[in-house]
Amino acid sequence: MDLIPAPSSAVRRPGEDFPLDAATTLTAPPALADAERWLRGALGAATGLPLGPGRAGEGIELVLDGALAAEAYRLTVRPGHALITAGGPAGALWGAQTLRRLLGPDAHRRSALRRDGWVLPGVDVEDAPRFGWRGVLLDVARHFLPKADVLRFVDLIAAHKLNVLHLHLTDDQGWRVEIRRYPRLTGRGAWRERSMVGYRAGQRRDDRPHGGYYTQDDLREIVAYAGERGITVVPEIDLPGHTQAAVAAYPELGNTDVVDTSALGVWTDWGVSPNVLNASEETLRFFEGVLEEVLELFPSEFVHLGGDECPKEQWKDSAAAQARIRELGLANEDELQSHLIRHFDRWLAARGRRLIGWDEILEGGLAIATTPKEGAPEGGASASGTERPEAWGRSRAAVSSWRGFGGGIAAAEAGHDVVMCPEQYVYFDHRQADGPDEPIPVGFVRTLEDVYRFEPVPPQLDAAAARHVIGTQANLWSEFMHSARDIDYRAFPRLAAFAEVAWSDLPREGAERDWAGFERRLGEHLRVLDALGVEYRPVDGPHPWQRWPGVVGRPIDGPPPVR
Ligand code: ACM
Repeated sequence: MDLIPAPSSAVRRPGEDFPLDAATTLTAPPALADAERWLRGALGAATGLPLGPGRAGEGIELVLDGALAAEAYRLTVRPGHALITAGGPAGALWGAQTLRRLLGPDAHRRSALRRDGWVLPGVDVEDAPRFGWRGVLLDVARHFLPKADVLRFVDLIAAHKLNVLHLHLTDDQGWRVEIRRYPRLTGRGAWRERSMVGYRAGQRRDDRPHGGYYTQDDLREIVAYAGERGITVVPEIDLPGHTQAAVAAYPELGNTDVVDTSALGVWTDWGVSPNVLNASEETLRFFEGVLEEVLELFPSEFVHLGGDECPKEQWKDSAAAQARIRELGLANEDELQSHLIRHFDRWLAARGRRLIGWDEILEGGLAIATTPKEGAPEGGASASGTERPEAWGRSRAAVSSWRGFGGGIAAAEAGHDVVMCPEQYVYFDHRQADGPDEPIPVGFVRTLEDVYRFEPVPPQLDAAAARHVIGTQANLWSEFMHSARDIDYRAFPRLAAFAEVAWSDLPREGAERDWAGFERRLGEHLRVLDALGVEYRPVDGPHPWQRWPGVVGRPIDGPPPVR
């Protein structure tokens, strides 16, 4: 019963256990077919039991109850009957995950070590998530993560009841999504000649080409696989900065009057490239073309368009960018960036989607607008952007608050939805302990306990603004994660602590959090991770083969800033 994330309530009923055997059935209505299929596949493989179809009122049974919230579920186990009552398909999946968890670590293996002795403990569980957005970002741009590893990662986060996979698909160092009408984005943009090993100061490179990309069918498969497990995949096409790979593929996208973009390759450094998009109408059209295909692949309401860390030097030096600023009646380069973001905010809204961006999208003003006021021109490709923002209604764009809480607080107070992912707390590329043993030590020291004590809703928000914090997200940037093994090390077990923060209604103040209780429950959870084949960071420090002596990182000292 050492469940992570902790359920809203769980009451053990001794003497009411349900031993499973070859006759145990599994039944669900068609609306809960995903949960039924997942349970039969995962539990059937791990236990060796057939879990054939049965009748209502017996065996393992899934039912819908419209009175519950979509992600909520109840699980009752009595002799001969385990009943998951779910508000919707997602709630049934989370209930199914809890049911598997009740069978112990070996129920998480892919084949059966034994076929008998599987016992569901008698229990009454009631459960529902605190936040609707419980996210994890995978940066597949800096280091490509092969499709099979992405699918495995989906299984791992589903086991933690996380429900958003934010795929950072494009960056200076690589473009990872096939776009049919622009084949050079992957033909040229999906690989680089070499990579930095560790941080810049180490001056170490591997002299080995790196690359890879997902075909559109790969992405359809990932999206469907995630969806069958309750997870929405949110794609990120980062613009107008972090775009050197796109510019290397299509030099006309860059600031050609400032740099010879035809000589650019995909970036082989870490950091923020100065080579950003130009702001021409042609470039807007190009990315509308990209996004048309992205929308076909990803049904997610939210589409992430980045907007972070766009150096403005090239726009300052570019006669074309300056002419564009004058033509659009904008004040400066920040407003030019806002113009681009506003354009795509409207463009997405006109297609029934919502833009989400990093908190820099607030910088040119929060008046980013999508819904035309009466008499204003329609959003979409025809909107040249010459209108002032005041001509438009309210934007429904949301903000990923990464540079601390400030952007998120400002956005929430202005009525925008916010996903809290401050780098000072939930950037899991950052080191987990001080000292020389951590591989490529970068960023703040953020221990498992620090993550457990993270509170996504800043206390100064009033109730109305706090409701705009729709969730929280842990971000796995991959400059220093070369493979799934490295991701396992940095993600786990911190992601288990994060999952509890995102799912469970914990006491809000960090000091009141029951860290000792979590630590105790973690023991069993680590055995679950072992059974799942996760190479997490042991609590006492890395295994010898998880260290990387001599590779230079970039530690940042000091406590997290006060909110
Ligand atoms: C970011 O870390 N640049 C969003």
